[in-house]
Amino acid sequence: MTASQAKAPSALSPRERLIVALDMPRVEDAERLVDELGHVATFYKIGMELAYGGGLAFASRLAAAGKSVFLDLKLHDIPNTVERATAQVARLGANFLTVHAYPQTMRAAAAGAAGTDLKLLAVTVLTSADDRDLAEAGYALGVQALVRKRGLQAKAAGIHGLVASAAEAAALRAELGREMVLVTPGIRPGDADAGDQKRVATPAQAIADGADYLVVGRPITAAADPRGAAEAIVREIAKAAAG
Ligand code: C5P
Repeated sequence: MTASQAKAPSALSPRERLIVALDMPRVEDAERLVDELGHVATFYKIGMELAYGGGLAFASRLAAAGKSVFLDLKLHDIPNTVERATAQVARLGANFLTVHAYPQTMRAAAAGAAGTDLKLLAVTVLTSADDRDLAEAGYALGVQALVRKRGLQAKAAGIHGLVASAAEAAALRAELGREMVLVTPGIRPGDADAGDQKRVATPAQAIADGADYLVVGRPITAAADPRGAAEAIVREIAKAAAG
């Protein structure tokens, strides 16, 4: 068990609250970045791109090396498949796994993770979807109402936390209380390029809105000095958490 996994969010150090997104196709590049960041980063997110390019074996190696690992695989399938896939991910030694926030899927994943150290995060509504996209897909609810409904359903299904934009974090925190973990992507330090992210927040804003963990990709991975960029974000988290 790693340090960040054993602790309540409130007991996490600023460094443990930073999750670096390894959004790259090649394991060699991810390994190089992890080496370069050294002790500055303790938690890494591996998404579908790297997972389908050898990233699952790499996830196991990272976990064995004492890093915390977030597998962002967004599972959604029939309950039997989700339960068994979740149990496989637990065997890899990952700390966090994402599933889509459908009640059936969340209950199956919770059953698959039972008795293991794996924590589940639900993705309520993808941040790429707006009200029109939901209507097109046949939903009667808009984004805000569906995020709220699925947040409550995640809690009822025994899910550990939610992935939410900083814009959603404050409302979810008020609705769900302290015990659910909130993991927030779309983080941009003041001087960074937003890229394709539409709803961005600074590390300090995200912490103030109730985020426990911040997922940061390009502001670190595409920086000329990734280690310096990660150190600056950890400093900002420390300042916001103290204030
Ligand atoms: O490079 P950037 O900091 O924008 O990366 C953010 C990471 O968080 C990416 O891995 C992206 O897939 C992920 N993410 C997101 N929005 C969500 C869920 C995950 O940006 N709602």
